[in-house]
Amino acid sequence: MRVVIKTDAASVTQFAANKIAELVRAKPDCVLGLATGSSPLGTYQELIRMHRDEGLDFSRVTTFNLDEYVGLSGTDPQSYRFFMQTNLFDHINIDPAKTNIPDGRALDFEAFCESYERRIEEAGGIDLQLLGIGADGHIAFNEPGSSLGSRTRLKTLMDQTVRDNARFFGNIDNVPRLAITMGIGTILESKKCLMIALGDGKSEAVWQTIEGPVTAQVTASALQLHRDVTVVMDEGAACLLRRREYYDNVEQWQNLLETGQFDRLGIQKNDN
Ligand code: GLP
Repeated sequence: MRVVIKTDAASVTQFAANKIAELVRAKPDCVLGLATGSSPLGTYQELIRMHRDEGLDFSRVTTFNLDEYVGLSGTDPQSYRFFMQTNLFDHINIDPAKTNIPDGRALDFEAFCESYERRIEEAGGIDLQLLGIGADGHIAFNEPGSSLGSRTRLKTLMDQTVRDNARFFGNIDNVPRLAITMGIGTILESKKCLMIALGDGKSEAVWQTIEGPVTAQVTASALQLHRDVTVVMDEGAACLLRRREYYDNVEQWQNLLETGQFDRLGIQKNDN
C-alpha cells in the first residue's frame, strides 16, 4: 500500500486528478471506477478543468460507479446518478452510454446486481477504482461485517452512515436505508485502487485501514490484500498514523526514482 500524505486537500485533489488523467492519456479507452461523496469532489472539479483547458479526452472512457441508494431515480437530486451528472459527466465529453451506475429503481435486485458484475467483466474489468472512506471504515456501501468476498448486492446501511449522509437529505427520515453496492470482492478485482481521505473525521478509519488488521469490521482494511493501492490523504486524515516517518521517507525515494535522480539514491549509472 502506498501512503501519500499531502499538506492540504488541494494537493490531495491534484494528486488524484493527475493519476486519473495519466491513465486516460495512456489508455484512452480505460475503465474507471468512480465514487461519490465529498472526498472525490475536488478531483472531479480538477478533471473538468483538465478537460476544458488541456483537452483531456473522455470520449472513449467507460465508468462504473460503486453504489446507489435504493428507491431513488437518476433524476432525484440525492441520487448518486444525479451527483455524477452534475459534478462530472455533464461537464466532460464522456459518452453517456458508457457511464454505469447501479439502478436504484431496479426491482429484481439479484438479476440487476449480476448484470452489473457482468458488465464490468465485459468491459475488461476496472483499470482504476477511485474510493472515499466512511467514518466507520467502509468503502462504497460495504458496511462493517460485509463479507470480504462480497459481490455487487443489496446492502442495509448502518445508523452511523444514515446519520452521516442525512446532511444531504435535509431530514434523517428521508435517507434511504438500503443501497446497491459493489462488493469488497468486486473492488479487489480492480487493477488499481486510489483512495482519498480528507479531514480528521477520517483519521481513525484511515489508521485502522492502513495499520490495523484486515477485518470485515473495517471493510477498507481489505485493501491490504490488493496488489496496487494508493491512499492519498491530508494531514488531518493522517494524524493517527504511527509509521508516518516511514511513509514520508518512501515518498521521498519514490520522487527521486520518478524524476531520475539516481545519483541522489546512491545508484551508479551503468554505462554498458
Ligand atoms: C458514502 C459512500 C462512500 C463514501 C462515503 C464517505 O457512504 N457510499 O462511497 O466514501 O460516503 O463520503 P464522504 O467522502 O462524503 O465523506
